[in-house]
Amino acid sequence: MEKIEKIIQIAKKRGFVFPNSEIYGGLSGTYDFGPIGFLLKKKIIDFWREFFIKSEDNIFEIESSLIMPEKVFEASSHLKGFIDPITKCKKCKNVFRADHLIEDSTKMFVEGMSPEELTRIIRERNIRCPKCGGELEDVKVFNLMFQMNVGALGDTKGYLRPETAQGIFVNFKNVLVSTRAKLPFGIAQIGKSFRNEISPRQWLIRLREFTQAEIEFFINPEEKTFEKLKDYENVKIRILSREAQKESKKEEEMTVREALEKGIIPSEYMAYFIAKEQLFYESLGVPKEAIRFRHMLPEETPHYSKGNVDMEILFDFGWKEVVGNAYRSDYDLKKHAEYSKTDLSYVVDDGRKIIPHVVEPSFGIERTIYAILLYSFIEDKERGWDWFKFAPKIAPISVAVFPLLNKEEMINKSLEIYKSLRKEFDAIFDKSGSIGKRYARSDEIGIPLAITIDHQTLEDNTVTIRDRDTTKQERVKIEKLIDRLKDLLKLENY
Ligand code: GAP
Repeated sequence: MEKIEKIIQIAKKRGFVFPNSEIYGGLSGTYDFGPIGFLLKKKIIDFWREFFIKSEDNIFEIESSLIMPEKVFEASSHLKGFIDPITKCKKCKNVFRADHLIEDSTKMFVEGMSPEELTRIIRERNIRCPKCGGELEDVKVFNLMFQMNVGALGDTKGYLRPETAQGIFVNFKNVLVSTRAKLPFGIAQIGKSFRNEISPRQWLIRLREFTQAEIEFFINPEEKTFEKLKDYENVKIRILSREAQKESKKEEEMTVREALEKGIIPSEYMAYFIAKEQLFYESLGVPKEAIRFRHMLPEETPHYSKGNVDMEILFDFGWKEVVGNAYRSDYDLKKHAEYSKTDLSYVVDDGRKIIPHVVEPSFGIERTIYAILLYSFIEDKERGWDWFKFAPKIAPISVAVFPLLNKEEMINKSLEIYKSLRKEFDAIFDKSGSIGKRYARSDEIGIPLAITIDHQTLEDNTVTIRDRDTTKQERVKIEKLIDRLKDLLKLENY
């Protein structure tokens, strides 16, 4: 069985990820998180918040509505431009992404081509329905936003937001006034986004409902230097340049400063976030070689952008974007100012009004979870079971408590310890099955430490702590247990 199939199986069996509404046959492109998956996701988000927001003094987090009025998306161009090309089989009526179909069967790069051009390629190359071999219809465009009718009369059109970013732009003025923030400053948001993807696929990779963590970092375009970059400019990253992509070459290692000097990263502010992204994913267990930053080709880059650099991770099926970095310039604020007739300018020190520029790192949380599961999964023949080597700060459960035997005295002592630990850690208590089986179950959900209460505990108030990664055990006094666990887990160590 492929590694990823094993992971998906364990994820279902052990309560990480379930298909949405499975008892009714599910709904493709949507998943539910179970008790363990919920905790994993929560801890990844908590860590993201620590690393990207709480460590900064000028990034403000908000939570905006998921439903937004039509005007927002007229202004942002999503109504007109947030589209994918589709084609339908005349025989079996299945619908496909036309660009993916062409790319899969011809290896041509067709990003940004018009429906007419895509139709011409389909005809010239005689591309047929991959399901039944039938003839395909002409290519049309399909808007990816979920539309809804708001109110009892249903006469107000709304949309589920396709990115959390728009909730930030429409609140720019409110945040600016309420915080009296000074440029440069960021507004962040973590939450659900919705896209009616034509062919959801690859488990948590292409979803119709997913979680984004985004920062819109507002800057004065005249101030090109970002002091804080000094702390990160020597971070090494692997860059896939435009030239390398054209010549099918590999990525090259360089520092973020070098990538800036070569003009691959368009701004010091973006370089700062890129360096932090590299450190963030490495500290979550994604190896250096599996992370690269791809300079997007001109034909993929929006006309208003001063440069986009995607952070990609090597998955079992190939490289895929997990974080989008975009220099969105003043495009969004200008458009919202125009459509809402609201002044969205910022007054700089000399009294001039400017429209700030925006640098945006945009993270996909489900893709992050996929990458973490993939790279934390240890297929362990020696141990006899497979397990997850989660970094302790994101391990769903930190500590397991096991009575060695099913004896009243041992169980009572274990419950007493378990209760005291629950105040400090996410902990579980498990008394069923052999101790070996319980270690296996706890490894399988990546619990870093397991405590066993045995005969000796009843005599001298000591317990054993078993380390998930080495399986080594140490004995500690119960009164020192919490401190020792904190030491071993290093949860505060961001
Ligand atoms: N505000 C910019 C923006 O939304 P994007 O590249 O479309 O940019 C950012 O999305 C990130 O959101 C992606 O890098 C990816 O991790 C995640 N994402 C986008 N579409 C997704 C989908 N259909 N399913 C899961 N994650 C998705």
